[in-house]
Amino acid sequence: MADSKTKSAVVDTTEHQIAVHWKEEENYKPTAEFIAQANLTDPAINERFAEKNFPQCFEEYADMLTWYKRWDTVLDTNDPPFWKWFVGGKINASYNCVDRHLAKYKNKAALISVPEPEGEDPVTITYQELYIRVNEFAALLRDFAGLKAGDRVTIHMPMLAELPITMLACARLGVIHSVVFGGFSGEACGLRAADSGSNVLIYMDGYYRSGKMIDHKASAEIAVAAAEKEGQKIDKILVWRRHPDKYCSATPMVKGRDFFVDEILKDYRGKLVDPVPMDAEAPLFLMYTSGTTGKPKGCQHRTGGYLAYVTGTSKYIQDIHPTDTYWCMADIGWITGHSYIVYGPLALAATSVTYEGVPTYPDAGRVWRIAERLGVNIFHTSPTAIRMLRKAGAEEPRKYHYNFKHMTTVGEPIEPEVWRWYYNEVGKQKAVIVDTWWQTENGGFLCSTKPAIDLMKPGSAGPGVPGIYPVIYDEQAKEMSAGTGKAGNICIKNPWPGIFQTIWGDRERFVKQYYSKYCKDPKSKKWQDWPYFAADGAVLAADGYFRILGRVDDVINVAGHRLGTKELESACLTVPEVAEAAVVPVVDEIKGRVPEIYIVLRPGYAPSKEITDRVIATLETMIGKIARPKQVHIVPDMPKTRSGKIMRRVLAAISNTLDTGDISTLANPDVVEQIRQVVQGKEKVATKEGPEDLKQFGKEE
Ligand code: WT7
Repeated sequence: MADSKTKSAVVDTTEHQIAVHWKEEENYKPTAEFIAQANLTDPAINERFAEKNFPQCFEEYADMLTWYKRWDTVLDTNDPPFWKWFVGGKINASYNCVDRHLAKYKNKAALISVPEPEGEDPVTITYQELYIRVNEFAALLRDFAGLKAGDRVTIHMPMLAELPITMLACARLGVIHSVVFGGFSGEACGLRAADSGSNVLIYMDGYYRSGKMIDHKASAEIAVAAAEKEGQKIDKILVWRRHPDKYCSATPMVKGRDFFVDEILKDYRGKLVDPVPMDAEAPLFLMYTSGTTGKPKGCQHRTGGYLAYVTGTSKYIQDIHPTDTYWCMADIGWITGHSYIVYGPLALAATSVTYEGVPTYPDAGRVWRIAERLGVNIFHTSPTAIRMLRKAGAEEPRKYHYNFKHMTTVGEPIEPEVWRWYYNEVGKQKAVIVDTWWQTENGGFLCSTKPAIDLMKPGSAGPGVPGIYPVIYDEQAKEMSAGTGKAGNICIKNPWPGIFQTIWGDRERFVKQYYSKYCKDPKSKKWQDWPYFAADGAVLAADGYFRILGRVDDVINVAGHRLGTKELESACLTVPEVAEAAVVPVVDEIKGRVPEIYIVLRPGYAPSKEITDRVIATLETMIGKIARPKQVHIVPDMPKTRSGKIMRRVLAAISNTLDTGDISTLANPDVVEQIRQVVQGKEKVATKEGPEDLKQFGKEE
């Protein structure tokens, strides 16, 4: 039981009142060499994008694109919070990322796709080649698959050039693509296909990971079955082959449903397809992400505003020039890949590098060898990958003569210690670092330093990027001032062109989840009354830099990617012996957080390794390997409130050896000690110090 001191602390302290024990880090300056070549060096940007110039300031980004017809209205707020951007404008994303570069850059590399086997050379695709391949595949999608503007198509592919080609071909026709992360299971893919109403799936037969050929087409069969169970029939599966002419999956092709892309493409050689001029507000793609309910939500992104926003931020924050060789190690199946591998860099005519496999395969030097060989000068990755590379070979980068001018970290908070390794070893004390905070819903960066203008501070994302006005509110919607060291909920005061339009097919949930908490007046048509709630905790330092602490909802950030606790729990409950399941985040040295599972068995079943193994296997099949839990604990009962709710915060405390706080109000306080013994053994080791997100986890319940 908690002692009386802890008890009163827990009762009296709400989230925003918790002081964050965190020392101020030193600042780092960009080098003169970086500043001399940077796209954005004029501090007048702050003035141009100040609140008084909103929303017109964002025309600067839209003007970086080529429009068929210019917009009439920059921001339409008539149907809050369903903001509309660049209304009346007509544009095509594929044209902007491909065709318009031909005049100047047709022989320049657009994509360099690096296969995992080191014996296979990188594949370079020039803008001219990209143009031809996007056109041919668009012709196939239109004339063979029967797809047209507004239709949805679900894409489940690995990190090879065929993936951006597929996306750009969809965009050319106005077909809404929904790319499912290649590492997700077939079941996860099928559910997303059903939710989006796709009747065409696009696959690749296989790909290399850690030296092994993965049979990826096998997952298509599972996807079809999962989609059909939800009432969505799949008519066609288009299968790219990793090695054309050689099918590398053991799964049979189904006649009349499955088609090899390389075979069908023969009929579309040299075919050109006019890009379809789309309304600025037409959806460009869906990107599914986890939330607080069991069902992933399809974030619907618009064409014009999204493309303007990722182009502007790629230019100013990523400092991309057409002469740069840019490598973002994210997977295209996540929003980072959409915005900052495909759409942003290609809209700016850069060379965008993709890598098929595991960063540490076949050894810890692989990433640095790729960077050296291709002359990469902008590098973009996550804290998880940085921790992993550091662990695998802290001194490896020294052995290679690559030359980074700019590096990004994204997806989770980065420990100052890890930041310094990134700066000193990977960046060789020359590369500027931007720590970019944002979310799937946001389309592009929300907080980051402007690389040639602002100082860097390890562990802090920085101020809002141009045109983004973040604010920290407490639970009572009171604005929390800078420099108090208190944590609260970070919100964005204003709309911006990259914000998603809605959750596919669920307007109500969109409003409820992101706007209802801090909406000042639901009848108001003024954007000022509709702050966007990001569901992250944050602290604002005296210098105006935001430090992001992590999620305040039931979402676990695993290796920079989101998993909903409810989603994992419903998967566990499909194991027949499992009566109850609760999922909590635990600290992991490499991945930041990973899920840990608690289950209670139905009467008559005894705990066994066989059951825990089956729970793990189920999570992998229903969601994917990313959902693999650190541990599965079979416990006698869940800690519950008197109204029967599972107290996840108590379980999270036990998993992370934190103090469990006040448990006197539980219906069954005695079970806590029993669970603790199952998890930690006899010795009590709880501490009060721990990461803020873990101390907050489950508080709302
Ligand atoms: C969540 C969004 C944005 C693309 C990748 C993840 C966390 C993101 C940072 C950062 C601290 C970060 C937040 C956010 N997050 N970037 N620089 N510092 N935390 O997209 O899967 O939608 O996850 O990732 O908790 O809410 P996502």
